[in-house]
Amino acid sequence: MSGATYQGWDLSEEEREIYRQRSKESSRAKAQALRGEGPKPIHPINLPRLNPENLMQPLAQNGGKALSLFSGCGGLDLGFERAGFGHLAAYDILNEAGVTLTRNRPQWKVFAGQEGDVTKMDWRQYRDLVDVLHGGPPCQPFSAAGRQKGREDSRDMFPEFVRAILEIEPLAFVAENVPALASKKFSGYVREIIELPLAPRYHIARFMLAASDFGVPQVRKRVFWVGFREKAKAAKYREPEPTHDWQHLAAAKSKQPVQLSLFSSCDRSKKTCMGVREALGLPDIGIDALAPTIRSGLTGPRHTTSILSSVSAQKVWEKILIWPNGVAGNRQKAHLFVAKNGHFRLSVPDCGIIQGFPESWSIYGPTYMALGQIGNAVPPPMAYQVAVSVARALS
Ligand SMILES: C[S@@+](CC[C@H](N)C(=O)[O-])C[C@H]1O[C@@H](n2cnc3c(N)ncnc32)[C@H](O)[C@@H]1O
Repeated sequence: MSGATYQGWDLSEEEREIYRQRSKESSRAKAQALRGEGPKPIHPINLPRLNPENLMQPLAQNGGKALSLFSGCGGLDLGFERAGFGHLAAYDILNEAGVTLTRNRPQWKVFAGQEGDVTKMDWRQYRDLVDVLHGGPPCQPFSAAGRQKGREDSRDMFPEFVRAILEIEPLAFVAENVPALASKKFSGYVREIIELPLAPRYHIARFMLAASDFGVPQVRKRVFWVGFREKAKAAKYREPEPTHDWQHLAAAKSKQPVQLSLFSSCDRSKKTCMGVREALGLPDIGIDALAPTIRSGLTGPRHTTSILSSVSAQKVWEKILIWPNGVAGNRQKAHLFVAKNGHFRLSVPDCGIIQGFPESWSIYGPTYMALGQIGNAVPPPMAYQVAVSVARALS
């Protein structure tokens, strides 16, 4: 994997040994379970109720051409496609991301690995060809879960994204990142690296979106910058309005998953966002919640197959009887490999749904790598709403 995306934590040899032992033990238990020699399965194979395709009705092609940088497994790309945009090309340094995109859309032009390294590109070849340039530069330099070194972090690619915008001069651009980048800590960074260099050419709006506002069953916020070259288009621009109500699932705030009977307090003009149990088709246990923010598996001390992001997240997963560690590659394996506490074990396709990816969009790579791509992605239904809002302003 590229050093641009992965940075191991500084661990002592003793800590490393603990991880090694735990991982060996878990591999042994898993192999035993998959041979049918483990504890008897408790949970039937789940049939999800949420199909994220239904959160992004496909719109007719609008003639708009998008160029995708830092494409990952294509959260933004899929959202833009469903909103009617065509793609000129996609760039990502991770080979596996390139395979994911190519397998799902063989007709797309995908540059991955060294060919996809944005730092090596002269973008002027795309001048006058691009309507919307979109990208989510790596979030690790800013994420509250990391060291927040910002411009001191070698993975900081925002200057590269800004360079691409200025070299291409698309009609509009969309940039996305973690909420921390909109915090006071990074206000100087945002002003100097993003907004000031672009201000002479672009009229820029900045806003925060929550994935559950668009029916994605997860606590996940992202900050967006949307810029237009023409003032009139910028004046016409309206940021996406929530389509779904999720207050009945506000587990993160109350730390208590809420009784389903509170459904009656919803705003009836919006649709109701499913909780994660409902979305995955798990039996009704009287409580449900939005899934806690899933972590990106491409950071951390080892190639983790856990999507756990914090201690408070663990409490929520426990209450809704879901085991967020040792995610299985598929549902059959999750079914056979019973979690120690008897809770429901997640699979890669389940995590895809939690992040708003339809099952028709397969994510390539070993489990840790597939989870890394999923955890890094913009939920496609959120991307779709942003793409629709941009298309409206450009029309
Ligand atoms: C936050 S993810 C983007 C997720 C994507 N926007 C989506 O919605 O699925 C950042 C991506 O930047 C890629 N990346 C990091 N350094 C890069 C570089 N120098 N050139 C191209 N891609 C790079 C990573 O491999 C990762 O897939």
